[in-house]
Amino acid sequence: MAEPILEVGGLVRHYPLTRGVLFRKQVGVVRAVDGVDFTLGRGETLGIVGESGCGKSTVARMLVHLERPTAGAIRFKGEDVVRLSGRALKAVRRNIQMVFQDPYTSLNPRMTVGDIIGEPYEIHPEAAPKGDRRRRVRELLDVVGLNPEHINRYPHQFSGGQRQRIGIARGLALRPEVIVADEPVSALDVSVQAQVINLMERLQGEFGLSYVFIAHDLSIVRHISDRVGVMYLGRIVETGRDSEIYDRPRHPYTQALLSAVPVPDPEAREHRQRIILSGDVPSPANVPSGCRFRTRCWKARERCATEEPLPAAVPAGARSTTGTAAHLAACHFPDDHMDGVT
Ligand SMILES: Nc1ncnc2c1ncn2[C@@H]1O[C@H](COP(=O)(O)OP(=O)(O)OP(=O)(O)O)[C@@H](O)[C@H]1O
Ligand code: SF4
Ligand SMILES: [Mg+2]
Repeated sequence: MAEPILEVGGLVRHYPLTRGVLFRKQVGVVRAVDGVDFTLGRGETLGIVGESGCGKSTVARMLVHLERPTAGAIRFKGEDVVRLSGRALKAVRRNIQMVFQDPYTSLNPRMTVGDIIGEPYEIHPEAAPKGDRRRRVRELLDVVGLNPEHINRYPHQFSGGQRQRIGIARGLALRPEVIVADEPVSALDVSVQAQVINLMERLQGEFGLSYVFIAHDLSIVRHISDRVGVMYLGRIVETGRDSEIYDRPRHPYTQALLSAVPVPDPEAREHRQRIILSGDVPSPANVPSGCRFRTRCWKARERCATEEPLPAAVPAGARSTTGTAAHLAACHFPDDHMDGVT
């Protein structure tokens, strides 16, 4: 693997669950993120997938320091960002930027595109001298495939895909090394999704960027990710190279998610068994004992209710030719065969 640029260990974000209007009383804890570990290599794309409410955006907000972790470490080039403050923190924050999900709501409708893209320079004036900012913004418009002449237009004068390009240009303004993209194409038409993903891939090569790319759909992250982490109820339950996750998923949850992805090849489609999960995702305020997936798992046994499975590597005998210990699944009874469920 490439040299790590971001190392996340034991990341936790709990919210107090309160009742009462006048006398607020804490009655529980929402375990939005409950112990997440991953490493992002330089120049690499890590895809994070999982159903709505599993904690993806909370992880993203902590990575860009919009929210403080309850516990855990976020190391950028070896330095724990969580412990930094003042100038040292500001310097690191510049290097980790976010691209948001919904280009319709995340851009201020009353600001011109030039002001939106140049806004990060107000917070980090050292990044570009005042007299040079408009030139840089024009350059950024050009880089993301928009007309630099449109610098004085407003967000409503652009299409959804173009607005997401504006969001990406703003993310690039400070020349960060890491971009955290939280569902950057989920709000876009399918035909536009591929264009934005292709743009992100091109920019990655051009600027040597490392991406954390969040999506709820496995088929979207497949194209762009080098490695994938599958999240369930505040935890990553399986992580591996994209080929390992897609061709040899080991965790029952990953298998279920993959079985729902449309397969274009009719023959492969015929051989495939569709796994339909029963029940809803439990509330993060009431996480099941033992394995958190057990209430929906068709393989659950007694041990799953009492003992929490820790992420374990593929046994040497079942390892694929390209496999390293990086393929981990948190399950007591993972599939260690060579074939996937397709
Ligand atoms: N400020 C908060 N206070 C209390 N609970 C919160 C807060 N923010 C998020 N949560 C809860 O934490 C859980 C994870 O939320 P999060 O937004 O990270 O999920 P997500 O995976 O991004 O979902 P989606 O796919 O819908 O965007 C949810 O149950 C959510 O209701
Ligand atoms: S530990 Fe048990 S309940 Fe959890 S995923 Fe594995 S088999 Fe299913
Ligand atoms: Mg989200």
